Amino acid sequence: MSKASPTALRDIRSEIEKLRNTVRNHDYRYYVLADPAISDFEYDKLMQTLVELESSHPELITPDSPTQRVGGQPTKEFRQVRHPVPMLSLSNTYSEEELRDFDKRVKTLLDGEKYEYVSELKFDGVALRLVYENGLLALAATRGDGETGDDITANVKTIRMIPLHLTLNGDTSEYSNVEVRGEVYMNRDGFQKLNQEREESGEKPFANARNATAGTLKLQDPKEVAKRPLRFVSYYLLSNEVRLNSQWENLGVLKKLGLPVSQQVRLCRNIDEVIENTQRWESERDSLPYEIDGSVVKVNSVRQQDALGTVARSPRWAIAYKFTARQSTTILKGITLQVGRIGTVTPVAELEPVFLAGSTISRATLHNEDYIRERDIRIGDTVIVEKSGDVIPAVVAFVPDGRPAAAKPFKFPHKCPVCGGPIYRLEGESAYYCENYECSAQVRGRIEHFASRRAMDIEGMGESVVDQLVGIGLMKSIADIYELHKHEHELEDLERWGKKSVGNLLNAIERSKSRPFSKLLFGMGIRHVGERTAQLLAEHFQSMDNLMGASEENLQFVSDIGPTIAQSIHRFFSDKKNRELVERFRSAGLRFEGDLKRKEGKLSGQTFVLTGSLSKMTRDEAKEMIVSLGGKVTESVSKKTSCVIVGENPGSKYERALALKVNTMNEDEFFKLVGRNR
Ligand code: IVH
Repeated sequence: MSKASPTALRDIRSEIEKLRNTVRNHDYRYYVLADPAISDFEYDKLMQTLVELESSHPELITPDSPTQRVGGQPTKEFRQVRHPVPMLSLSNTYSEEELRDFDKRVKTLLDGEKYEYVSELKFDGVALRLVYENGLLALAATRGDGETGDDITANVKTIRMIPLHLTLNGDTSEYSNVEVRGEVYMNRDGFQKLNQEREESGEKPFANARNATAGTLKLQDPKEVAKRPLRFVSYYLLSNEVRLNSQWENLGVLKKLGLPVSQQVRLCRNIDEVIENTQRWESERDSLPYEIDGSVVKVNSVRQQDALGTVARSPRWAIAYKFTARQSTTILKGITLQVGRIGTVTPVAELEPVFLAGSTISRATLHNEDYIRERDIRIGDTVIVEKSGDVIPAVVAFVPDGRPAAAKPFKFPHKCPVCGGPIYRLEGESAYYCENYECSAQVRGRIEHFASRRAMDIEGMGESVVDQLVGIGLMKSIADIYELHKHEHELEDLERWGKKSVGNLLNAIERSKSRPFSKLLFGMGIRHVGERTAQLLAEHFQSMDNLMGASEENLQFVSDIGPTIAQSIHRFFSDKKNRELVERFRSAGLRFEGDLKRKEGKLSGQTFVLTGSLSKMTRDEAKEMIVSLGGKVTESVSKKTSCVIVGENPGSKYERALALKVNTMNEDEFFKLVGRNR
């Protein structure tokens, strides 16, 4: 292709810019206003067009393009940045009385002047500082010690609620060089989904949404960050060029600039209104989709804020009111071990029952051996238990005063509490595992998981049924489910069972045989293979046999599958027991073929041309493989062609590929690329 003429280039540039604005506008509507105007499908199409236009004109790519949110290489260490205006913290108050004391101080210091407050929610997340230069996001940094923090710009760019580019129109055009402060957080449902995925793939769940947020912002690979449900809310704007008069005005400008601002902000005429608002949110905090740990009161006028000043790193013009923590103290009576379906051994605190945030609890997690050691938690201690959101309660610390003289550090057992077999801890991991695949705790867990709604969806095979059937030895493996019909009469004679209920269960089992291949794969409980990974594998390999035959290297050709997951899958299928399991599933007639057409895949956005005679596959097979992975096949070679697959005696297409410096590969390289064996 010849170079585009200047006019054509100008047209393309303006088309690209128009598309970018459209995408930005949809991002804003979707993420900030929660009011999408188009379907996800339409949005994906817009984005795809933009990606294609930009990839054929890389010289027109700008850092604020919506396509540039996830990019760059993983970082080893974050650069330290100084905060020219320190990031302060707030003093805390815990009662109405203390809030009134704060108001009295403000009143005295302002010497009888009139003043107003802004009452805001205190988001329970991680503080963030954003710097915009000429309207573009130039830096994002953590608070650190308040003076210096980490440069986490690449990670923050993946948060779609944060504009890469401020909306600068007539009345906001002077705000092109500003600093924005706010909080990164996760919604409760996003956090729960994330934790669920982690548990499914054998990773340690986060204790709460704040930890999940902090942990995510510290990840070294922005691609990973992009997958996490991070959100942002802004609460402060700093400008050297424009004088802002009040916090209220400040929030209004933030909103106009396209930044997310909380809707739960209120301008209050006096401390009574502040208290009323605060109490309201304390009792209604669960109605919000995210966690808050209190409210923040700020003197509205900036002039008065300046007059009040700052002492010891906290402003005198603002204060936090912390809600009563969902924490309580109780006695740690003992520590038991729980064995999960993949053999994870988790220490559980057995507590003196205590009422906490709406329910009585007598057990709480202690996470793992290191957690107990680092916090020096001992049996007999008075401990602090915490419930955050809907997460299982956790023991967070012990109270030194209450420690009995005889309390000794906890020694983590080396035997499985269920089967008595050895338990071991892998290097670099914090959890212990029970090695015995036949350990009944694992058997139960595996069957429950296999039968669960999101896997094989066998109605009626819940926890108590599984317990009963495993307990009497009718099921030792997930494949035994498909042989239960041989024990029909035996089942009917069991306690709590009859002809009808057995019939229902057997029917549900029969129905499960037509569940999609990806659900079966997920249900098999391979370590690190959660719902999403199972789907990716099913789409990529299309059949159980392809998958079982894949090498670790081939497995890694699936997008998002790294060495750990690949190793785990490969190990699973190398195990004789598991291969037998697969054969039993095959004879039971389960679905072993992928039934999912892919929309997007490893080859998405890539165009292939075939030339010469292919010896290891037919042209149709090659086309099918490319298309099934999201790629396109065209007839002629152009600069836009991603790759030419070259067979024997190639013709002019090969020469053209060389002339245009288009990537070429032979059949073997192609197989390697798509991860298929030949
Ligand atoms: S104002 C000087 N407003 O709470 C002003 N902070 O200890 C400092 N936070 O580091 C911050 N919601 O991470 C402010 N609406 C809000 C907030 C808020 C959460 C966090 C922020 C800050 C900490 C204060």
